[in-house]
Amino acid sequence: MASWVGEYGARLKEQEKEIKSLIAEIESLKNPVVLDFSSGLNEMLEENAKLKYRVNVLKRSLQEEESKAEIGMININQRLQNIFHIAIKIAYPHLENLPSAVTPSQSSKFGDYQCNSAMAISQLLKAKGEKSNPREIAQKIISNIPKNDIIENVDIAGPGFINVNLKREFVSELLRDLLVNGVRPPSVGPKKKVVVDFSSPNIAKEMHVGHLRSTIIGDSMCRLFEFVGYDVLRLNHVGDWGTQFGMLIAHLHDKFPDYLVVSPPIGDLQTFYKESKKRFDEDETFKKRAYQCVVQLQNHNPDIIKAWNMICDVSRKEFQKIYDSLDIKLIERGESFYQDMMNYVVKLFEEKGLVQLDEGRKIVFPPGCSVPLTIVKSDGGYTYDTSDLAALRQRIFDEKADIIIYVVDNGQSMHFQTVFAAAQMIGWYDPKIIRIEHTGFGVVLGEDKKKFKTRSGETVRLADLLEEGLKRSMDKLLEKEREKVLTPEEFKAAKEAVAFGCIKYADLSHNRINDYVFSFNKMLDDRGNTAAYLLYALTRIRSITRLANIDGESLQNAAAETTIVLSHEKEWKLGKCILRFPEILHKILDDLYLHTLCDYLFELATTFTEFYDNCYCVEKDRQTGEVIKVNMWRMLLCEATAAVMAKGFSILGLKPVQRM
Ligand code: ARG
Repeated sequence: MASWVGEYGARLKEQEKEIKSLIAEIESLKNPVVLDFSSGLNEMLEENAKLKYRVNVLKRSLQEEESKAEIGMININQRLQNIFHIAIKIAYPHLENLPSAVTPSQSSKFGDYQCNSAMAISQLLKAKGEKSNPREIAQKIISNIPKNDIIENVDIAGPGFINVNLKREFVSELLRDLLVNGVRPPSVGPKKKVVVDFSSPNIAKEMHVGHLRSTIIGDSMCRLFEFVGYDVLRLNHVGDWGTQFGMLIAHLHDKFPDYLVVSPPIGDLQTFYKESKKRFDEDETFKKRAYQCVVQLQNHNPDIIKAWNMICDVSRKEFQKIYDSLDIKLIERGESFYQDMMNYVVKLFEEKGLVQLDEGRKIVFPPGCSVPLTIVKSDGGYTYDTSDLAALRQRIFDEKADIIIYVVDNGQSMHFQTVFAAAQMIGWYDPKIIRIEHTGFGVVLGEDKKKFKTRSGETVRLADLLEEGLKRSMDKLLEKEREKVLTPEEFKAAKEAVAFGCIKYADLSHNRINDYVFSFNKMLDDRGNTAAYLLYALTRIRSITRLANIDGESLQNAAAETTIVLSHEKEWKLGKCILRFPEILHKILDDLYLHTLCDYLFELATTFTEFYDNCYCVEKDRQTGEVIKVNMWRMLLCEATAAVMAKGFSILGLKPVQRM
């Protein structure tokens, strides 16, 4: 895939260089070495001509970029940003780190987009002791805006805000493109390899709501990366190695001695885990045997490995049920996968002299960290730290990842910062080249704002939680008597889409870094920023074309032939809102905050409602209800809204339903 943004970025860099050398040339003109006045003047004139020529080259290259056929959907905001960047560079060639901030305007009074750089430039100039009236600066920027096909006009408001109005034909044309070619990803440069480490529950322990958050957020990130064409490795870094297996296996040995021939009934692994833990804590000889089992496991004793496999299988099946309900795909690659690499990793750190001894433990203390990593325990065993170092190394060198994301709760933030620092210390990666990030998230709270628990104070089982979601969503649908209009299949689809969609959306729509309150009542409410509301909104939009008897093919044909008129204020607002989708995705790729997408989809749905309440799409005979007139361009606006919403849902992992 050709990379427009990448090329464009490179081109801008080149232009920056050109401008810098221009400045150097201008500076050299002022150089007192030019003593002969007449020849100095000649040189100056010559330089002036050169300068003009180069500015023209700059402008022309921008036009060329714009006329190039786009591969992905256009990010209008970024396009404007680039235009203003050039205008400002030409206006103020001697300023470094120029701010060129363009944002969508909050109100139509301020145009469609705004550039507020004049104020910041004024500050920069003031610092240099130069004249700095922001309005004059804005004027100077405006007069240097290169020729382009997207800006209709600009004006200056207040102290120096530049209001930008977009060309209607440009917006209309982009909408047509969206309808004809579908919702394509925005350009993101060369294809990247991404590893996302998410979900990652622990074997033999119940998957809890913390893992649910990781599962939902991680899946959505993967979907976004996949949509823009990256090669994504979805990894489930399950906790399947370590001391707890010693006691589990020793207990299995005692309770089901013939486990090698008959599968033991350990369906309830939780109870099994609790029993073994109790013995481990109370019985010294059992404890010793448990430790021996760990050693045997690490030495790959076949019987012990078989026991380990059995235990893992039981857990795996439980986890899989949850992944199936939520339609989440991932590859299990737990801690055990890295066992052999751990020896090597410890050796590497030792060889480089990066290991210290601390009361029999081997520790690694990267600069700037407050707590060291323990890479070998005093009994010789490895730890969570060791396995994460080995995993990181494998992902950098074997997977050749360009981006590695860990979707794990905020509580592990220090662990990851230390692991990343250790990896940099030993020279495994340069953060400027490989992006490695812990994208943390807060805890799930109950409606009482305390840690999420069942009424009896137990941790909530994920399976029970999903079950309850289904029940509540069914009650909602029954309350609306939907069973009377939907077929049983449609009813089931609606029930699941609402239940699982609401649980996912409630999580994703909150800023992940904060704690969030889990409330079925709120998430199933069909008013407000919820999946229930958005799913309804989308089915309703889809039903508009259906009720007007327009099939997909006629819509496709219409898209190619009809000009999308954007003369009504609400049509214009909706059109622009639809086209902000690429801008939203670029932002999320940058900061990995998915709630931005939820906020956007909610805004799109409400903007659509404003449009629909004000603009007739279909005109019907009041008596007969017969369709008399279809305003096709408005139908196309409905269709474009639906297409973007559907794509947004698919990134969030929500399943739209035909009817609900
Ligand atoms: N199993 C861990 C836990 O439940 C999460 C693992 C996250 N991934 C990682 N590479 N450490 O806390």
